[in-house]
Amino acid sequence: MCGIIGYTGTKKASEIMLDALELLEYRGYDSAGIALSDEAGRGTRITKCAGRVKDLRALCEKEDVSGCCGIGHTRWATHGGVCDENAHPHRFGKVTVIHNGIIENYRQLIEKYELDGKLLSQTDSEVVAAVLSRFYEGDPYSAIRKTVLKLKGTFALAIMFDDIPGKIFAVRNVSPIVAANTEDGAILSSDVAAIVPFTTQYFVVPEFHVVCLSRDGIEMYDLSGDKAYIEWLTVDWDVSRSDKGGYPYYMEKEIMEQPQVIKDTILPRIKDGKPDLSAEGIEDSMLAECQRICVIACGTAMHAGLVGKSLIQAMIGIHVDVVMASEFMYNDPVVDDKTLVIAISQSGETIDTLEALKFARKCGSPSISIVNVKGASIARASEHVIYTNAGPEIAVASTKAYTTQLAVLYLLTARMAIARGLWDEAQTQSYMSELLRVPEVMEEVLSAKEEIHHIADTILNAKDVFMIGRGLDYSILLEGSLKLKEVSYIHSEAYASGELKHGTIALITEETPVIAVVTQDKLKSKELSNIKEVQSRGAKVILLIKGDEVLEQEKIWSRIFRLPVMADEFMVMPASVVLQLIAYYVSLDKGLDVDKPRNLAKVVTVE
Ligand code: M6R
Repeated sequence: MCGIIGYTGTKKASEIMLDALELLEYRGYDSAGIALSDEAGRGTRITKCAGRVKDLRALCEKEDVSGCCGIGHTRWATHGGVCDENAHPHRFGKVTVIHNGIIENYRQLIEKYELDGKLLSQTDSEVVAAVLSRFYEGDPYSAIRKTVLKLKGTFALAIMFDDIPGKIFAVRNVSPIVAANTEDGAILSSDVAAIVPFTTQYFVVPEFHVVCLSRDGIEMYDLSGDKAYIEWLTVDWDVSRSDKGGYPYYMEKEIMEQPQVIKDTILPRIKDGKPDLSAEGIEDSMLAECQRICVIACGTAMHAGLVGKSLIQAMIGIHVDVVMASEFMYNDPVVDDKTLVIAISQSGETIDTLEALKFARKCGSPSISIVNVKGASIARASEHVIYTNAGPEIAVASTKAYTTQLAVLYLLTARMAIARGLWDEAQTQSYMSELLRVPEVMEEVLSAKEEIHHIADTILNAKDVFMIGRGLDYSILLEGSLKLKEVSYIHSEAYASGELKHGTIALITEETPVIAVVTQDKLKSKELSNIKEVQSRGAKVILLIKGDEVLEQEKIWSRIFRLPVMADEFMVMPASVVLQLIAYYVSLDKGLDVDKPRNLAKVVTVE
């Protein structure tokens, strides 16, 4: 949460930072600000306000924002409401700070350093500036080291000192910072999205290391003051993928990219017609020897895990738990060296998932993470990582990350079946050829997007939408419902259709829209009965069903979308795309900010 940027070089820093903050805005968009360091000896100047980056840009037009070195921030409020004073940067004495994360012991620090009455904001971040200022006597490294040792919590800090113009210092714990050289200086950011306009070479600042950016480049030291080695990485996605590519919103662009990114995710991992995870260092023995699996993830990633559970239990026959990472620690988790832990995360920074993974590893569990962002904390904290090659996902609502997570789970399931000797050649071939069909089947759904748009019109003014299905259909509806809630603000609930009659059916009234998904042959007759139950109570049913399905009963739908036909276990792929498009069009037609829904942020680095 919160986007941070720092630039030092020969160009106008405010312009570079404002552009970068627009790219980072998906991380948080309550308020924004920049600070410029001034080599003319005028000290550090701060411009900040509550609101979006466009409001900051307007403010910058009225103020003196000259200077070639600066730090900038876009905020997702945690401590302190949304107001100008709480916007970052924060300044105390000669120190100016921007912060991403949460300082848990900020109250104790206020008391210990007698800061009561001396702070201008309600934020934990200003406390860090004050503590740094207390320790600063001309040596930035020493002040940073002493301060960091006093902090409890998570932080990515970018810091400027009034009397060291042209230099930016940064340090982090958990919350991410990446840094890179530019042709005229250096840049740092919360993620690579803001760096790709300058370079494809970057590095992830290791935790508890201090980096110093200047026009001459970057230096890095560990907390004992020893110079540290920088491990450079290369951005390996197409840089053009980080703009909107002519679409009005990133969400639409990212939905449309799915056929390609699914190919990018699966094709490099198929050799001789078989799934191959050797490049990830995943040995068959690991997949063959585990006795159970525990998937930890949040939100959409957790929903991907639920599909994985159905696949693995059905095809491998071992027990799979899917645990919301935020609840993991409260249920006295039972994981051991026979439990394969799979952590799923688009950003690779979700703190609940990261903490749960670290706990599982301490218990001796072997681990694989499925992550989209290269070099992210979860990727580094797990034994093995399978990257979803989805490219940058900018819209807060996750779409292509979800389906590429599913694609990886399909591969993993197949490799596990082979490793355990469960499949013969023919079974492997038929499964893999179906997996390879996913991109073309998705294309088919995407080419029907106007038809789906018309279907979405029917729920535009709904107050509540229910979604019903069983088994795999229920799993994807949980995701479809989350998507609709987060981008359209329509209350929606996904319900296992057999469970409906145990209470929730009381909420179905005349005209309530109910989206029903029927893609699993073995569940079809029961699912159709459940649809009749809601229809006979007046519900308007939107039915998503396999294209070749013959419905012998009387008409049970108000709207129907016929899905391209795949083997049942793969039907989640086309059906998910339809649900994504429904959510997207409702949000679009309501005139909402599709990519930046209220109260949300793309990366959740607070517990
Ligand atoms: O980066 P992660 O995949 O770990 O994020 C997990 C959730 O915060 C995320 O999926 C969230 O639910 C999305 N906004 C849903 O669209």
